[in-house]
Amino acid sequence: MAVPSNFLLFSASLLFFIVSPSIQASFRPKALVLPLTKDASTNQYVTQIKQRTPLVLVKLSLDLGAESLWVDCDQNYVSSTYKPARCNSAQCNLAKSKSCGSCFDGPKPGCNNNTCSLLPSNSFKSIGTIGEVAQDVVAVQSTDGKSSGKVVSTSKFLFTCGATLLLDGLASGVTGVAGLGRTKISMPSQFSVAFSFPRKFAICLGAPNGVIFFGDGPYTFLGRNIDISKSLMYTPLILNPVSTAPAYFEGDPSSDYFIGVRGISISEKPVALNKTLLSINKEGHGGTKISTAAPYTVLQTSIYKAVVRAFIKEIPGIPRVPAVAPFGACFNSKSIGFSRVGPGVPVIDLNLPNKVVWRIFGFNSMVEVKDDILCLAFVDGGLEPTTSIVIGGHQLEDNLLQFDLAASRLGFSSSLLFRQTNCANFNFTSAA
Ligand SMILES: *[C@@H]1O[C@H](CO)[C@@H](O)[C@H](O)[C@H]1NC(C)=O
Ligand SMILES: *[C@@H]1O[C@H](CO)[C@@H](O)[C@H](O)[C@H]1NC(C)=O
Ligand SMILES: *[C@@H]1O[C@H](CO)[C@@H](O)[C@H](O)[C@H]1NC(C)=O
Repeated sequence: MAVPSNFLLFSASLLFFIVSPSIQASFRPKALVLPLTKDASTNQYVTQIKQRTPLVLVKLSLDLGAESLWVDCDQNYVSSTYKPARCNSAQCNLAKSKSCGSCFDGPKPGCNNNTCSLLPSNSFKSIGTIGEVAQDVVAVQSTDGKSSGKVVSTSKFLFTCGATLLLDGLASGVTGVAGLGRTKISMPSQFSVAFSFPRKFAICLGAPNGVIFFGDGPYTFLGRNIDISKSLMYTPLILNPVSTAPAYFEGDPSSDYFIGVRGISISEKPVALNKTLLSINKEGHGGTKISTAAPYTVLQTSIYKAVVRAFIKEIPGIPRVPAVAPFGACFNSKSIGFSRVGPGVPVIDLNLPNKVVWRIFGFNSMVEVKDDILCLAFVDGGLEPTTSIVIGGHQLEDNLLQFDLAASRLGFSSSLLFRQTNCANFNFTSAA
C-alpha cells in the first residue's frame, strides 16, 4: 500500500539542529546488548527493552528491516515522559516523515495535534497503519562484549505509535516491533548517536536463545570464549531505492538490508537460475534481502524449483518421503548422517561478489518436521514476489551477522557450530 505523499499535509521546511540525547550519569557504554528468545508457536525472535517513566518491560518481535521501533500506544501506554514529535521538528525531519496531522480523541499517547506520523508495519502479517512519531525514555543493558553490564538509558528515543490491530499475528505478550532497518531512526542508528559508538550492530539468532549487539565488537561467546567479530567474511549491503515495507510513502527507499547474491551452488555446482530475478529493477523488485520476519528462506518459484531439483540430484540414495507443507522436499533422516553442523547433506552456497561465499550447512538448510523426517527448509514464494530471495530466520540461526552502516557492508560468520559455540552462549550474567 503506497500512500501518496500529498495524502496528508507535508511541510518542506527543515530545521537544522541535532537531537541531543541525554545520557544517564557519565558512564559511556562501548556497546549495548539485548536478549533474544525464539517463540515456538510463531517462530518469531522476541526481544525486550525497558521504556517509559516509570520504566516498564516491553516485549518486541524482531524485524531486521523495519524502519523504527513501534509499540502499541492504544493500550496501557502510561508514561510521564512521553512527548509527541511536533510537525516540522528535528525529530520529524530525522524520521523523514511525510505527514503531519491532527487527532480528535486525544490528547493521549498516539493521539495529539500538530504531530508527524510514519507508517508502522507488521511484516509478519504484511499489514501497516499510520502512527504518531514520539519520544520517550528507553533503557537497555550495556556490554563490554563479554558479558552484560550496567543498564543505561536515553531519554529521547524516537519510536512510532502502532495500534492494537497491528499486533495481529505477533508472538504472545509482544506489544510492538524492534526495527533495526536502514534509517536514521532505527534502533541501531539512534543508539549509536545517543552513546557515540560506531554505527554497527550484530544479530545472532538462535533457538531458544540468541543476542543482539549494538556497537562494535568484541562479540564474545562462552564455550571457546572467542571474539566472533574478528573472523567475519564481508559483502556489500545494497540499497533498494523503492520501499519493500507493507506500508510506505511514495518515494521512500527500502529500509531492508539487501545483498548481491549472484548465484546459488549446491555441492559446489552452480544451479541454473534466471539472473534477471537476482538484480533489483527500477520498481524495486527482485534481489536478495535478509529478513527475520520470514521463518524460512523464501525463493521465487523458478529459483525454488531449480534449487529443489538440484538438491535432490545431489543427495542420491536417501529415501524421499511425502512432502510436509510448506516444504517441497523431505527425506527419511535415518539414512542421513549427522555432524557438528547438522545433517550431512549437500552444502548450499550463496555466491556473492568477489568470490565470497555464504555456505549453508545441514543445521541451517534442513528442518526436522517430525521424528525421522527432515525437509529442505526453503519455501516457494510464488511467481511474482517483490523480492526474489528472502533469507529467513532458520538459515540465520547460530550465524552472527554484523551490519556496518557506515561502511554499508555485512559481516557474516557462517555457522558458529564449527567453532563449538552458538548464539545462546552469550553471558547474560551481569557483573554485580
Ligand atoms: C485538535 O484540534 C482540534 C481543533 O482544531 C480540537 O477539536 C481537538 O480537540 C484537538 N485535539 C487534541 C488531541 O488536542
Ligand atoms: C526471467 O525473469 C524475468 C523477470 O521476472 C522475466 O521477465 C523473464 O521472462 C524471465 N526469463 C526467463 C527465460 O524465464
Ligand atoms: C559471566 O559474566 C560474569 C560477570 O562478568 C562473570 O562473573 C562470570 O564468571 C561469567 N561466566 C562465565 C561462565 O564465564
